[in-house]
Amino acid sequence: MELTGEQQAVLDGSRGDYLAKCMRWLVEWGEVMGAKRLIKVDNTHALLPVPNLMARGASKETMDQYMADLVEACSHGTHPGCTCTVHAAFVTLDDVDVPENDPEQVQMQKDLAVLAANAGFIPTFTCAPYLVGNVPLKDEILAWTESSAVVYANSILGARTTRHGTESAIAASLLGLVPEFGVLLDENRKGTLRIEVTAELEDPPDWGALGYFAGKAAGLGIPVFNGVRRPSQDEAKQLCAALATSGGVTMCHIAGVTPEAPTIDAAFQGDVPEDYLTFDAETLRETYESLRVRTGDEIDSVILGCPHASINELSKIAALLKGKKVAEGVRLWIDTARGTKGNADRMGYTEIIEAAGGRILCDTCPTNMRIPAKRIVTHGFKQAHYARGMVGAEVIIAKTDACIRAAVAGRWLGDG
Ligand code: F3S
Repeated sequence: MELTGEQQAVLDGSRGDYLAKCMRWLVEWGEVMGAKRLIKVDNTHALLPVPNLMARGASKETMDQYMADLVEACSHGTHPGCTCTVHAAFVTLDDVDVPENDPEQVQMQKDLAVLAANAGFIPTFTCAPYLVGNVPLKDEILAWTESSAVVYANSILGARTTRHGTESAIAASLLGLVPEFGVLLDENRKGTLRIEVTAELEDPPDWGALGYFAGKAAGLGIPVFNGVRRPSQDEAKQLCAALATSGGVTMCHIAGVTPEAPTIDAAFQGDVPEDYLTFDAETLRETYESLRVRTGDEIDSVILGCPHASINELSKIAALLKGKKVAEGVRLWIDTARGTKGNADRMGYTEIIEAAGGRILCDTCPTNMRIPAKRIVTHGFKQAHYARGMVGAEVIIAKTDACIRAAVAGRWLGDG
C-alpha cells in the first residue's frame, strides 16, 4: 500500500505509540485485502464494550489488558474528526437483577462511557445508529461495526462501508482514515444474485424472512431484489439484519430504492443475469418454519427489538400490551437505544410496557448478555438465529402481534 509522507510518519511513531499501532492495524488489514491506499473517513460506528469475560471464564489479566487498550483508545488525546457513535455493549448500564449484568463490569462500562464521551465518541451503545442520529449521506465513506448496520448503510442510505471490527473502527475513528477496498469502490458494488420477489411482504418480519433466505443464497455476494415495494425503515432494518446473519452479505440492492440502483439494470451495472431465484409465498412460509424447530410450546422468553427497536416499534408494542399482563415466569424484554427509550418514556410507552410486566432494555440485548433461556419467541431473524447458538435456546420466529400473544399466554399460540 502506498502511504503519504504524513501517514508513514504516524506509522513510524510521530504521534506516539498508540496511533502508530492504530496505523499498523489499518495498513496490515488493507494490504491483506488488496487496498492500494488509505482514504479519508467521514463517519464511524465503533465498538467499545467491556466484555462479560468473567462470565465466560477469562482471566483477570486478559480482562485488564483488554480494558487497558480500550481506555487508551479513549484517553490519549485525539478526538475523532468525524461523527463517531458507539455500538451495543455486553451489559446494560441500568440495574438489572440478573447475574449476567455483573456490577463490576457495569461499573467498568460506565467509566469507559465517560472516557469515550470526553474523547468525542457519542455513547449511543446501539446496533442501529441510524435510528439515533447517525445518518450518513450517499457516498460518504464510513467505518462501521455491526454487520446489520453495515448492510443498512450501504443499501438503504447509499453510504459506503466495509465490515469493521473493534480495532479497525477505533483506528479509523482516531486517524480519520480507512483502507480503500471492497464496497468502497464502485466496481465492487455490482449485484451478483438476482432475486425476483413475488411474495406479499406485509411487515418487518416478512422482510426479515426475505433477508434470511437471500443471505443464505448470496453468501458473500450482493443480492438484488426486484419486484418489491419500498420498505419502511423498520422493514429495511429487518431485511438488512437478516442478510448479514444467514450469509456474509455487506450490501444488497433493492431496485428502485437503493440510491445507486433506480433500476435493476443499474443494480447490476448494466449486466443483468438471466438466471434468478424466486421468493414466493411458499418460500416465505418455509423460511419462517426453518426457525420454528421446537420440542414444545411453553415459553420462558419473548425478545423484541433486534436490531434495537425504533420508537414506532415501541409504540406498536405498547398498543398491543395495553391493559394486558405478561404471563408469570415469562421474560418480555424489548431492546432499544437509550435515546429512543427517552422518547418512549416521554410518550408513555415505557409506562404501559412496564405495567404489563415487560422491560425496555438499553445499551445491549439478551443475546449479547448471554441471558439463559430455554424457549424464545422473537420477531427478529437475527435474534432467532443467534439465540440458538449463543444462548442454546429453542426459538420461534413470529410477527410482533403473535409474539405479544405468546408473552401474555406463556405459550406459543400460533400465528393467530
Ligand atoms: Fe442488536 Fe443484539 Fe440484535 S446487539 S442486532 S439486538 S443480537
